[in-house]
Amino acid sequence: MAVVDVALAGRSYEVRVGAGLLDRTHAEAHAFIESYGKRSVPVVADANAKRLLGGRLQASFRSAGHAIDWYEVAPGEGSKSWEELQKLTDWLLERGITRSDHVFALGGGVVGDLVGFACAILKRGCGFVQLPTTLLAQVDSSVGGKTAINTGAGKNLIGAFHQPALVLADTSCLATLPQRELRAGLAEVFKYGVLGDADFFARVDETSGAIIACDDAVLEPVIAHCVAMKAQIVAEDERETKDARALLNLGHTFGHALEAETGFGERLLHGEAVALGMVLAARYSARRELISLSNAEQVADALARAGLPTEIAALGMDCDGTTLAHHMRNDKKAGGGTVPFILLRSLGEAFVARDVDLSDIAAFLDEQLQAH
Ligand code: GLY
Repeated sequence: MAVVDVALAGRSYEVRVGAGLLDRTHAEAHAFIESYGKRSVPVVADANAKRLLGGRLQASFRSAGHAIDWYEVAPGEGSKSWEELQKLTDWLLERGITRSDHVFALGGGVVGDLVGFACAILKRGCGFVQLPTTLLAQVDSSVGGKTAINTGAGKNLIGAFHQPALVLADTSCLATLPQRELRAGLAEVFKYGVLGDADFFARVDETSGAIIACDDAVLEPVIAHCVAMKAQIVAEDERETKDARALLNLGHTFGHALEAETGFGERLLHGEAVALGMVLAARYSARRELISLSNAEQVADALARAGLPTEIAALGMDCDGTTLAHHMRNDKKAGGGTVPFILLRSLGEAFVARDVDLSDIAAFLDEQLQAH
């Protein structure tokens, strides 16, 4: 097992990564179960995660004499809604959750974000433990305390920074994921290499087959490396008030525009949009002569080898660059009339560019939509 500390004054916590952690939840999270005494422990679970992994969690709690009170969440972004938030907070209040209790979240980013936000506002803040079951949640969303729901105006626009008390990332859970979802999570793994560690980028490229095959011996150090990079960034810039945390948005401004155009759904998964977004960020960096075109194509080639989409022309979107650029104006990171873009100084060194002209982005995207 690898243990990574997220060092935050007064709110530090551990992210433990390894195969079989789910079966030891009662022991690993002992301190956060004690307050329940004889009461059942509330576990909010994605319906698929509950079906595939709920038995293992139940057995773990039962071995310590605890029962689980399940709350099931439908898979998909639609569950990050005001309605679901209200239902969940009502459910938790009915169960008499106190500020010293911890709610357990079993699932991917949707459940983690929803539970985290519910716990941020419930009685002005109660604790939660993340049990992330997707690659994307294990390397990104379960760590760092960003919690949110979506509204008609956009994704993640209502939320709070609220850190978990513990994250248990059991790599053996990943074997239950569809291949497409695993590959989508791999995009966020590559992201750490592209934004800050060229050697790690090369390592992920070499081992992407083993990651997709859920080889625990490869998964544990790779996931722990991503978490360690994220922990360092979050410790430096918890609330994204400096540029450090913004670097984690590499590929996301382009990616969100593609997700908005394709309806935030199955047509293009978030991780796939991030893969395309990283390629676009790299190619746009080359257009601005910050990196060479061959460096930009190194990013695209590695993602393509991992089975991720790299060409927006292949998406068959009926739109132009201006339409995509328009989606970016509504990005929550936009401010003062400009949209910050994460660009590359080299493969392994990202920075925040605040001087990007959206009409130039639109022209660049028009070229990309025609290309290949
Ligand atoms: N997912 C980006 C962040 O946590 O800051």
